[in-house]
Amino acid sequence: MPKIIGIVGSPRIDGNTTFLVKEALSAAGKKGIETELIKLAEYNINPCRACDTCLEGECPIEDDTPLLLEKLEAADGIIIGSPVYFGNVTGQTKIFMDRTRPLRIDFKLKDKVGGAIAVGGSRNGGQETTCSAIHNFLLIHEMIVVGDASPTAHYGGTGVGRGEKDCEEDEFGIETSRNLGKKVAELVAKIS
Ligand SMILES: Cc1cc2nc3c(=O)[nH]c(=O)nc-3n(C[C@H](O)[C@H](O)[C@H](O)COP(=O)(O)O)c2cc1C
Repeated sequence: MPKIIGIVGSPRIDGNTTFLVKEALSAAGKKGIETELIKLAEYNINPCRACDTCLEGECPIEDDTPLLLEKLEAADGIIIGSPVYFGNVTGQTKIFMDRTRPLRIDFKLKDKVGGAIAVGGSRNGGQETTCSAIHNFLLIHEMIVVGDASPTAHYGGTGVGRGEKDCEEDEFGIETSRNLGKKVAELVAKIS
């Protein structure tokens, strides 16, 4: 069975990003796809040191990253959700992205399907620029980038919420996240 993983880049374990990534995965699950939720805050992930060892062999940093890289490699679709911090992804999300470099040496994520979810406290707080940062990451891994399925059909899931549970009332954030999950699932099913 094809599998989609949803990655949450918030330091809040059960905040808005977790809620919306879960909505996306649940929509994907309704299309007959296996799903798994990964909260980066529950793992020990250290920043890349730019030693370039990964170009020749294994990354020398000892932490939880290898486990996460295995999960990325095994997945058919990858949804990355991040809160908007200063118009961009969180530091946690970016550190994780940088540590995926070993997978790019021989393009292990090539042709997997990917999408983005971003949650900001303000309506125009940088959801689109944050989705864009995630899209750039996916493109540089040679993945296939999708947005939310019609009728919303834009950049992915875009939520507005500041307090930890605000997005539970955010109809548009929920709809776009569900439509993203649907779109990733539909394409994964076509490709698999
Ligand atoms: C350091 C920091 C920077 C933030 N920067 C922005 C921002 O640029 N734009 C915005 O709309 N919200 C910003 N926020 C608000 C968060 O995006 C918002 O609280 C979001 O719901 C957090 O998601 P979470 O509940 O999944 O952690 C910022 C919050 C923090 C802590």
